[in-house]
Amino acid sequence: MKSFSSLALLSFVSVAVACVARALASTLSPTTAISREGLNVDWAPLLVAAKNGLLTRVDKGSETMMSLEPLAIHNLLEHDASFSRDDYRNGTGDNLHFNETIFTALANSNPGVDYYNTTSAARVMYERLQFSIATNPTLINTQRELTGRAGTGALWLAVMGNATTGVAPKNFVQIFFREERLPYLEGWKPSPSLIGIAQLGPIEQALIAGSNWTQSQHCEPVVTGPGSQVNTAA
Ligand SMILES: *[C@@H]1O[C@H](CO)[C@@H](O)[C@H](O)[C@H]1NC(C)=O
Ligand SMILES: *[C@@H]1O[C@H](CO)[C@@H](O)[C@H](O)[C@H]1NC(C)=O
Ligand SMILES: *[C@@H]1O[C@H](CO)[C@@H](O)[C@H](O)[C@H]1NC(C)=O
Ligand SMILES: *[C@@H]1O[C@H](CO)[C@@H](O)[C@H](O)[C@H]1NC(C)=O
Ligand SMILES: *[C@@H]1O[C@H](CO)[C@@H](O)[C@H](O)[C@H]1NC(C)=O
Repeated sequence: MKSFSSLALLSFVSVAVACVARALASTLSPTTAISREGLNVDWAPLLVAAKNGLLTRVDKGSETMMSLEPLAIHNLLEHDASFSRDDYRNGTGDNLHFNETIFTALANSNPGVDYYNTTSAARVMYERLQFSIATNPTLINTQRELTGRAGTGALWLAVMGNATTGVAPKNFVQIFFREERLPYLEGWKPSPSLIGIAQLGPIEQALIAGSNWTQSQHCEPVVTGPGSQVNTAA
């Protein structure tokens, strides 16, 4: 179903989890509309993302369907060092469509077991960033991008797997990214409980802690809500 462009939703929610405005299009699907209900993800984080992004509608229509293509704009919501998309670079990189070469780091991670977890996903974040540092002279890598990347990781771990433990079957994650569909046929089910910031936050923090992140540039603080601010790095 077109409205279940799952990659897009995961990317989209990640922005909210990260509470930053620039997390998206590196995991965006080119499909234009998505629905949140199929994944059992809370609306609140989505709305934060929408407000921070380009989506300003607040009528009922915008609560169920969102336009995603504008979110591929580099460094608005989209970020470098994605799990599944190439860096934008100087405009020569395709930051919108799935890239199997980029995905290799994730696909090959946590060898010997059939699941991904926060340890393995954090290592992939590290590897992906090292690749971008080595190959992308126009890399943007501030704390804002870090929170976006970790938020995205928390989303696919929680939505494809267990939102409490952050453990997700590899098969589900693979299908989700490569085929851009929800793996119902393979046995995936939406989380029995609503996934919100309470679940995603700890997973995101574990990813940040495990990824040995170093910044390439410093960004100004991004105020995301009352008492909430991204970027305290010097
Ligand atoms: C996928 O990403 C790799 C690594 O950056 C790049 O060399 C390649 O051109 C990309 N492929 C496509 C089809 O964009
Ligand atoms: C963009 O990067 C490519 C590859 O490094 C290079 O060939 C090209 O000249 C660059 N274009 C601009 C406008 O800088
Ligand atoms: C993730 O899985 C690997 C492989 O089984 C394991 O060594 C590691 O301890 C796990 N991480 C967590 C946080 O459980
Ligand atoms: C992060 O650094 C610690 C300490 O040096 C190391 O044990 C760990 O393997 C590193 N993790 C990654 C993902 O590079
Ligand atoms: C997630 O893992 C927890 C802890 O192991 C478990 O209690 C819970 O039932 C799992 N949730 C699902 C949906 O499998």
